[in-house]
Amino acid sequence: MCGIVGYVGSKQAEAVVVEGLRRLEYRGYDSAGIALVHDGELVWDKRAGKLANLDKALAEDALPASSTGIGHTRWATHGAPTDRNAHPHLGATGRVALVHNGIIENFAVLRDELVAQGHEMLSETDTEVAAHLVECALEDGTTLTEAMQAVCGRLAGAFTLVAVDGRDPDRVVAARRNSPLVVGIGDGENFIASDVAAFIEHTRDALELGQDQVVTITRDDVTVTDFEGRPAQAGSYRPYHVDWDLSAAEKGGFDWFMRKEIHEQPGAITDSMLGRHDAAGALQLDELRITEEELRNVDKIILVGCGTANYAGMVAKYAIEHWTRIPCEVELAHEFRYRDPILTRDTLVVAISQSGETADTLMAIRHAREQRSKVLAICNTNGSTIPRESDAVIYTHAGPEIGVASTKGFMTQLVACYLLGLYLAQVRGTKYGDEIAQVVRELEQMPLHVQRLLDAAEQVNQLARELFSARSVLFLGRHTGFPIALEGALKLKELAYIHAEGFAAGELKHGPIALVEDRLPVFCIVPPQGRDHLHDKMVSGIQEVRARGARTIVLAEEGDEEVTPYADDLIRLPRVPTLLQPMVAVVPLQLFACELATRMGNDVDQPRNLAKSVTVE
Ligand code: F6R
Repeated sequence: MCGIVGYVGSKQAEAVVVEGLRRLEYRGYDSAGIALVHDGELVWDKRAGKLANLDKALAEDALPASSTGIGHTRWATHGAPTDRNAHPHLGATGRVALVHNGIIENFAVLRDELVAQGHEMLSETDTEVAAHLVECALEDGTTLTEAMQAVCGRLAGAFTLVAVDGRDPDRVVAARRNSPLVVGIGDGENFIASDVAAFIEHTRDALELGQDQVVTITRDDVTVTDFEGRPAQAGSYRPYHVDWDLSAAEKGGFDWFMRKEIHEQPGAITDSMLGRHDAAGALQLDELRITEEELRNVDKIILVGCGTANYAGMVAKYAIEHWTRIPCEVELAHEFRYRDPILTRDTLVVAISQSGETADTLMAIRHAREQRSKVLAICNTNGSTIPRESDAVIYTHAGPEIGVASTKGFMTQLVACYLLGLYLAQVRGTKYGDEIAQVVRELEQMPLHVQRLLDAAEQVNQLARELFSARSVLFLGRHTGFPIALEGALKLKELAYIHAEGFAAGELKHGPIALVEDRLPVFCIVPPQGRDHLHDKMVSGIQEVRARGARTIVLAEEGDEEVTPYADDLIRLPRVPTLLQPMVAVVPLQLFACELATRMGNDVDQPRNLAKSVTVE
């Protein structure tokens, strides 16, 4: 949510900053702007709309050469997406330019104070207040670093701020509280960004900052302090090496990042399994940092996350309860702390987040830790806040996910949840070693199964072309198929902007079947045959909607002939165990949403009103 870039070095800052913004545009695309330090003053440009508008403006009217600058791509919170509200914002005299991600909660009080002192505010944003305050603090001869420290102490809420001073050509200063910020360490140049993607083409050496820290970069130096100006304690920030490169942050011949990321799933599953079991199939989660004894004492698991990550948690509940008999609850992270959940030292809270920066999930884990529960993060982003504030972490190794709609992130969250469930079963002895090894072998086959579905993508693409004019689509599933029905519907809402809903198939007759009308497309995820009558009940549900005129698009495993008479369209899934079926069932639904949105002419990677990494509550 908002992308931020800062640069000091010997290259042209405009090119570095704009290129960085391009890689961060997934975080918000309501406006884009840039400010550079040139000849003792600031030069800047900012435009409402996507980065392309700023690109065009800069092509027509280039900014002068500079080697120090900042930039911003916005997801609007305070004030409409206009040129005026676009960042950077300037102080009263135009000496300081500042960009911001997050929400300054006490901005109204600060704004009134500034206005009473005669400051004129040009925008409706909370950010402009910070720009004025930093500039005021500079007036009495302090450095930009000292001014930033002084102002941060006055701000409430969540923020990453990055500022430049027109009179200080070799310094960019940033601060963070509850909002992402990483530093890129180069050779004779340094970077600041919301995400390493912004500088990955220049350096893979990064510094993860702690909470309430201020960082100053110059060409050759990086200094970290707290808000009081004290040097940051060793260990409160952490250097690390990024294990992916520029090619992972590019489209590689695909039309969309999302389509590329769907196709990367076989590799992402393999990478997320790598090194996590021995040759005999016994789990080894060395990075877990929670002792086996603590895991044996766990008497309840609560899985928290938002959106797609929440659906991964729903799948995990089926698997973890089945393998370990530990009761699991699944909770939307933003609802969690407000219902006063029962948390003890023996509760394990599992926070699932691709970005590791989702504010709702972050607040949920803080609440859990205050109650002394253990928190385990499942996360895809090294250096992000959620794993940092958790007791333990299982990193998914999906590589950077840039498409706003999560695909490979979800897939690898499933892998991590299964690994966690199996590990708990191993530690607690609720499954025999050979049973665990059998599931591990099945997981290892998943990349091949997913690849086969991807190879058959044309069938789904053709379906999307046929359903181009659909205005409503339903998704039905039972058991682990239920969260996948929800996920299929979410993907379609996000990308195609049409009414889409997922239901537990058994719920249909309790109301939603009233929605069914002639030719309404209904995706039906059929569980594998032969367990607890689940399959047969799903087949009955399909008959019920078909009898009312629905066009049934049935996802059923190979060899399942019972469903054939009731399927208007039949998508075959590889044969896998029920608990693992989400990993295959979700793939056609991802492909369908991507293709339908493409056909509709929508921006698949940057759907309207959304941003990846929701860093405000
Ligand atoms: C849906 C989607 C969102 C995210 C949710 C949580 O395609 O991407 O629903 O899953 O915002 O994000 P993370 O996993 O980063 O916490």
